[in-house]
Amino acid sequence: MKLIDEEGRRLDGRRFDELRKIKIEAGVLHRAEGSCYLEWGGNKVVAAVYGPREAVPRHTQDPVKAVVNARYNMAAFSVDDRKKPGPDRRSREISKVTSEALERVIITDLFPRASIDVNIEILDAEAGTRCAGLTAAAVALADAGIPMRDIPVACAAGKIGAEVVDGEVKGGYVVLDLGKDEDNYGNADLPIAIAPRTDEILLLQMDGHLTYEEFEQALDLAMKGCHIVSKLQREALLNKYRPDLEENL
Ligand code: CDP
Repeated sequence: MKLIDEEGRRLDGRRFDELRKIKIEAGVLHRAEGSCYLEWGGNKVVAAVYGPREAVPRHTQDPVKAVVNARYNMAAFSVDDRKKPGPDRRSREISKVTSEALERVIITDLFPRASIDVNIEILDAEAGTRCAGLTAAAVALADAGIPMRDIPVACAAGKIGAEVVDGEVKGGYVVLDLGKDEDNYGNADLPIAIAPRTDEILLLQMDGHLTYEEFEQALDLAMKGCHIVSKLQREALLNKYRPDLEENL
């Protein structure tokens, strides 16, 4: 499948450094302490935060800090073939790396023996759901008032359009934020999460093959994407809290 033309236009008309359309809303659920609804291209995600609350069962408690439990789940109707409900290898992996990324910015030592539970529900999936999920989780955590060093954010870059000639990989373009066909038929995907104030990397995974040079380009592009998405996260939080702030001035 031809994913990019000679002029550098991608299947959906984007340039190499363009994100899909993103919409973020903070505070959409009433029962959760903090929540977020996020659309990123064709992805639709809800994140809900509960806690800090006493971790149960008690053996899961850490006497010096809170445990962060992120749970990534894909709805059965979120993909083309109905997904069997419940955790699988992939969702366990994404839950684990997301928990670890969030744990690095949450000031967990304020809440010994507590758990902070972050539920990420993918309602509609179209590539890049781990980045969309983590980005939504970060807004939900801020909405819940969980103390954090920074509001984490995630974005991916990747490589598309390479050809194999006589067993050698030729050409290809490093692009921002792979769409569904780009993810399926592309050459590599590099999702990252960062703390945008310092650019500290909280998560970095890679699927496929990149040369060292391409890796550096993709990392740079994903970082730029993260900073754009970070602004949208802040706007979403301000949209919810600005009226209260103005009232108290
Ligand atoms: O979603 P993300 O790119 O973070 O993770 P992935 O494992 O690279 O999955 C890429 C895409 O494959 C997902 O976003 C879904 O659109 C699709 N997928 C699917 O159709 N069925 C699954 N059971 C898992 C993923």
